[in-house]
Amino acid sequence: MCGIVGYIGHREAYPIVLKGLKRLEYRGYDSAGIALYDGEKIKLSKTKGKVADLEERLEKEISTNGTIAIGHTRWATHGVPNDVNSHPHYSNSGDLVIIHNGIIENYDSLRKELEKRGYTFTSDTDTEVLVNLIEDVQINEKVKLGKAVQIALNQTIGAYAIAVFDIKKPNEIVVARLGSPLAIGIGEDEFFIASDASPFIEYTNNAIYLEDGEMAVVRRGKEIKIRKIKNDRKVAPYIQELQLNLEQIEKGGYDHFMMKEIYEQPDAISDTYRGRMLAAEGIIKMAGVDDNLAKLLNAKRIIIIACGTSWHAGLVAEYIFEELVRLPVEVEYASEFRYRNPVIHQDDVVIAISQSGETADTMAAIKMAKEQGAFVFGVCNVVGSSISRETHAGAYTHAGPEIGVASTKAFTTQITVLALIALKLAERKGTISNSEFYSYLQELERIPAKVKKALTYNDQIIPIAKAYKDAKNFLYLGRGFNFPVALEGALKLKEISYIHAEGYPAAEMKHGPIALIDEHMPVVVIATKKGHYDKVVSNIQEIKSRKGKIIGIVTEGDVTVRELADHVIEIPETEEFLMPLLSTIPLQLLSYHIAVLLDKNVDQPRNLAKSVTVE
Ligand code: F6R
Repeated sequence: MCGIVGYIGHREAYPIVLKGLKRLEYRGYDSAGIALYDGEKIKLSKTKGKVADLEERLEKEISTNGTIAIGHTRWATHGVPNDVNSHPHYSNSGDLVIIHNGIIENYDSLRKELEKRGYTFTSDTDTEVLVNLIEDVQINEKVKLGKAVQIALNQTIGAYAIAVFDIKKPNEIVVARLGSPLAIGIGEDEFFIASDASPFIEYTNNAIYLEDGEMAVVRRGKEIKIRKIKNDRKVAPYIQELQLNLEQIEKGGYDHFMMKEIYEQPDAISDTYRGRMLAAEGIIKMAGVDDNLAKLLNAKRIIIIACGTSWHAGLVAEYIFEELVRLPVEVEYASEFRYRNPVIHQDDVVIAISQSGETADTMAAIKMAKEQGAFVFGVCNVVGSSISRETHAGAYTHAGPEIGVASTKAFTTQITVLALIALKLAERKGTISNSEFYSYLQELERIPAKVKKALTYNDQIIPIAKAYKDAKNFLYLGRGFNFPVALEGALKLKEISYIHAEGYPAAEMKHGPIALIDEHMPVVVIATKKGHYDKVVSNIQEIKSRKGKIIGIVTEGDVTVRELADHVIEIPETEEFLMPLLSTIPLQLLSYHIAVLLDKNVDQPRNLAKSVTVE
């Protein structure tokens, strides 16, 4: 987590780095800081709080002229969020200044060693240890900064994306990455450094994504030099053209990114299948799938690994693959999977799902599955992300940047990609008939319009949010394909409104959670026509007779649940396996409105960050 930004070139660095930090704030927002060299000395300012707090402080504190600067927005790991622990950090001499995203796991022993040699520390961070280790190497070995960084990093265990410069040589910034992302934007005689490309998108379309274990020295007006940290081998820079545009990373008239992203879902879903699905002709073309068709068709089992919302998409996929392809599927939390001793066979296919493509646990689980001989297929949103590069093959979701910390369009587009893969395999294996295949593709093509329709019920959701915003607990119930949606609905509410919520399979209620139900408990029940409707209606009766407040998510025209429930929110009818793409929409909107009514920070909920690059 944490966002890092840097600039070296001919422009004023401060506004570039500050704006960049705002764009990277989704990665962490406990504290922020900037170090700027004004031609004579470093001006460093940092503060607990958000980038806006830093901006206010900076404008009061320092003049901001200078053409080299680095900045950081933090998600605390070592040391509480306070001014002292904020980045950038100085070395003891005051010459080196560093920003860091990641964790140096052996920082404690390194710190003790450095203390023995007279170094002192003002913060509790692993980063301050690293910058002093670099300084110690530089002094003892009498080497240039790049070499000192390399030697120091070879003594560390952990993960990092760093940028460091020396005020005695303010013409270069040294960067390095292992386990945390780092992109370098290449302009005319200028370089931009950032955790992703969003901070420099208006300045250049050319970027290098450093690979794990690489470092680079960027010098004003010179060519970039990239090396392997371990063995010093030179690496030829691979410059990619970015496909991102500015509009995609701005709010576009919405109050929050989350709402913008909820409303983007019709387009995001059609972008996901565009060019891949020709519904009228009955064709699904997906390079990652087509090139590995034999592997996928011969798989004896699919293991899905993911975290959070992506894990919920994986659960939906389990139902879809089992229903359409008749393949056994296991869905695993990446964080558990990586530390178990899972049985993986050569003919297993592992599917890793990750919006950011940077989640540390998912990444580690992928590496483990590969070591054990499995074929690993990635479903990522961020193009060029670490997971998309680590997997053997994959399919992007093409949802566009998701900036709100609560995942919305990533979820629905992940399900769309996974449904496409399942449909392709099902057609090839003959586990669905030709006519089913055609009609399913046509229904998938109708989904964006149906999501649009589901969004038109937004105004009916606001009064429901008002009625229950002060509830202390919520239950979310669903069965079959809608069970993972219940889990996802509960997660959305928890993370942005801080109201405790639990998702359950509706029938499990009587095995415990029913004890929670009284007149104060709102229960959101997904009761769509094709999803075990009659059984869910019985579950609703059970809640009603215990005075629970029922918010039913129903298919248009429903009569039975309308009579029983306190409130209903309609969604259009669709095939059962595609229903999660619609039933999740009112749950996203309900959480959003409750959080707004409670005056919570919807896009940056407390304690969270968009990409979890620490385990
Ligand atoms: C919840 C949310 C998280 C992520 C999880 C995995 O709204 O966003 O639960 O889904 O951290 O992240 P990715 O998909 O980037 O691997």
